[in-house]
Amino acid sequence: MLTKKIEDLCNRQIEREGYSSNLYLAMASWAETKGMSGIAEWLYAQAEEERAHMLKFFRYVNERNGTAIVPEFKKPPVKYKGIPELFDEVLKHEKFISASINEVLEAAIADKDYATVNWIQWFVDEQVEEESSAQMIIDKIKLAGEHGIYFLDRDIMNFRGE
Ligand code: FEO
Repeated sequence: MLTKKIEDLCNRQIEREGYSSNLYLAMASWAETKGMSGIAEWLYAQAEEERAHMLKFFRYVNERNGTAIVPEFKKPPVKYKGIPELFDEVLKHEKFISASINEVLEAAIADKDYATVNWIQWFVDEQVEEESSAQMIIDKIKLAGEHGIYFLDRDIMNFRGE
């Protein structure tokens, strides 16, 4: 049984993972309409992953006798300045999500909820991977410069950390 505090934090995470999915979907749409179909594909795949993360939390809350709540989502931005700025935003967002996961973990440790401590490790590892793949893409953009965006768009699907 989850304590109210952990249940609330997990529900907050459901909203954040779901928003992440919508954010990447909005980014995918923007990239696709700008002719960057490879980058759009990468973002569509990220959006799917984030939805799966949301569902993982959703099912976990109910499995532990809590109540998973379908949240309201704020609307993600429609326009982005450019590809480098977009990936800076992805990394910034993933760092925010990592901090949010850590807050759930810290609360679970404080509550001696070792089942949640154990369960959430998967997300801790996942966040390391997600931050690292966003950072790798940013590094490649810097290496290649603006003209390298074409090649990034062509090759980006090789940079999915799975
Ligand atoms: Fe599920 Fe990338 O946070």
